[in-house]
Amino acid sequence: MVDLAGKDIISAAELSPDEILHITETARRLEKVASGEEKSDLLAGRVLATLFYEPSTRTRLSFESSMLRLGGQVISVAEIHTSSAAKGESLADTVRTVEAYSDVIALRHPKEGAAQLAADSVRIPLINAGDGAGHHPTQALLDLYTIQKEHGNIEGLNIVLLGDLKHGRTVHSLVHVISNFGVSLKFVTPPALAMPLETTWILKMRGVPVEETSDLETAIRDADVLYVTRLQEERFADRAEYERLKGSYRVDLSLLERAKAGVTIMHPLPRTDEIAPEVDNYEGAAYFRQVANGLPIRMALLALVLGEA
Ligand code: NCD
Repeated sequence: MVDLAGKDIISAAELSPDEILHITETARRLEKVASGEEKSDLLAGRVLATLFYEPSTRTRLSFESSMLRLGGQVISVAEIHTSSAAKGESLADTVRTVEAYSDVIALRHPKEGAAQLAADSVRIPLINAGDGAGHHPTQALLDLYTIQKEHGNIEGLNIVLLGDLKHGRTVHSLVHVISNFGVSLKFVTPPALAMPLETTWILKMRGVPVEETSDLETAIRDADVLYVTRLQEERFADRAEYERLKGSYRVDLSLLERAKAGVTIMHPLPRTDEIAPEVDNYEGAAYFRQVANGLPIRMALLALVLGEA
């Protein structure tokens, strides 16, 4: 029996397969509320605080919209310059304060480990909306949900992850979630941006087939899902390294001519130049459908950690 009431959601690695499937099942039940077709007051009287210390469009707005669609209320610090963090207040003190005003917190922070530290400072549930290059569990869950919706069955799929797998927190979380469901993984990166060794090691120890390459043209041939990420410019320690790697991979229609029919193209967004705009009308281009899936998933998470689903 899965019970996420009162739980923090910090890293995708700590979610069991049963918990993951329970979250996507709950999301499925909330689809009509997410699309606005049905009204809900499931979370009436509850308050979500969104605390974002890094830029965000989709994650923050979808958390807030999710809470509102479920009849709850939202308070928000989007511009950290307007909060006491600008006066040197510690993250622990800030979240302790926010706890007095809300029932659940969604936090985004540039430091890896910040979400765990914040969660340890409060008694209400805290959801990690991205901690530096660390984790982004809610994105991973909506990515899984997207693959489920686009493909039906996940087992046996060849999933190719392309781009900055060194710094990208979405892929760090995604591999932990999808590797529970019998997929094969291929990591395609410039050599300098490989998936952290520790992550590939954990996957291999768990018996997940993982291959690493920098040859996109070959990798695309048997991909069922191509998950593209941007260079995480803000996380490069060395600016010259970023400039050197900029533009080193790009998905366009001529590349997709080599792909299998039915390949799904995903991207957590924002994109820079790694997917050509001409791909947007390609049948398998799912990145804007993926955006929409953030709503039912975050609705499910809010309802579950608040003990209402
Ligand atoms: C991602 C993030 O913030 O990690 N965006 C998102 O949440 N959809 C990906 C990125 O910034 O590249």
